[in-house]
Amino acid sequence: MKLHPLALSALAFALSTATLAQAAPQVEVLHYWTSGGEAKSIAELKKMMEAKGVAWKDFAVAGGAGENATTALKARVMAGSAPAAAQIKGPAIQEWGQEGVLANIDAAAAEGKWESVLPPVVTNVMKYKGHYVAVPVNVHRVNWLWVNPEVLAKAGAKAPTNFAEFFDAADKIKKAGLVAVAHGGQPWQDATVFESVVLGVGGADFYRKALVQLDQASLSSPTMIKSFETLARIKTYIDKDAAGRDWNLATAMVINGKAGMQFMGDWAKGEFTAAGKVAGKDFLCVPAPGTGNAYTFNIDSLAMFKVKSAEEQKSQLTLAGAVMSPEFQEVFNLNKGSIPVRSGVSRAKFDSCATRSMDDMAATSKANALLPSLAHGMAIDSAKAGAIQDVIAKFMNSNMTPQAAAQALAKAAKTM
Ligand code: GAL
Repeated sequence: MKLHPLALSALAFALSTATLAQAAPQVEVLHYWTSGGEAKSIAELKKMMEAKGVAWKDFAVAGGAGENATTALKARVMAGSAPAAAQIKGPAIQEWGQEGVLANIDAAAAEGKWESVLPPVVTNVMKYKGHYVAVPVNVHRVNWLWVNPEVLAKAGAKAPTNFAEFFDAADKIKKAGLVAVAHGGQPWQDATVFESVVLGVGGADFYRKALVQLDQASLSSPTMIKSFETLARIKTYIDKDAAGRDWNLATAMVINGKAGMQFMGDWAKGEFTAAGKVAGKDFLCVPAPGTGNAYTFNIDSLAMFKVKSAEEQKSQLTLAGAVMSPEFQEVFNLNKGSIPVRSGVSRAKFDSCATRSMDDMAATSKANALLPSLAHGMAIDSAKAGAIQDVIAKFMNSNMTPQAAAQALAKAAKTM
């Protein structure tokens, strides 16, 4: 039998689509974990999914704290081609839920008994209208100060516990010819420093009233003005090349001994770890000045989008199950700098920063000083958070007075 060339190519096409249909199921995951430590962490999930027979389609969008990733996600969802999963967290999960685009993953939650291994403060955020739509990945602590002990020794300074000690150490480091405060001038990094300063100056109750409840009187209070004054003073210890610098490059300055200290959440530890540095020896993690009795948390999670085929849905449930498994929670968080979000994971391999984070989280939860991070989308809706972040960035990049900044902050908090 002799086939016409056209029939032949049609046959070839039919064969190739048949192979495609049989190709391994896959999940496409949007995330912004692109720094050295972060890439190592997400690679563990990819490995785990591939071991379960699900191919990983990476949708990585660089840019700290995910601003660029959110823009990319909106475009994809509007075009009707949402990825299977995306790194979305906090109140933003509810905002996406209201759009009607998130998928129900109750089956994964039931199978993994999430209700019994996660605290309600976490499960509430992962559900939309009573159904699970997201899986939690970890708990990051935001109110840390990362310190290079060699720089301290060179400068004759010691690791600070309060602002008086912090400015004393900063002066000494500056005198020794090094950068006292490593920072990247990006709005979310400015906001990260700001919230730790508010917590250090005002304490946990003030932080909650001002930055979570958005109480107008607190936002424009003398304590808020004092927080901006403190922030203005911190600005003077940041080097002139900070504008636009990525957070991990600022961390690298502390790692390399070019700078002494950095205000940053414990994803920074992922960079120290990836560089082979040891907690308590090569670097120190101390609570941001004056915040030793409080804890600002940032819980990463993957929200699931409605997908078309039953096979894709199955892959999504496999992903959710893998993320919550004790094996993943251990290996991911060892690399990421965060701690497991669920119970039942051994502490044995975690370093002193992580075990301190675990202990402090439990203690501050009892003492009512466990607080959602404003800068990392845990505290308030995204419109208000954006308006507040703009005020902080403006303050960092101009001669705006602390009084004017506090007034502007109160006004921004009224954004609809
Ligand atoms: C945070 C996120 C972390 C880390 C950091 C820097 O908002 O929760 O996982 O990625 O941004 O991008």
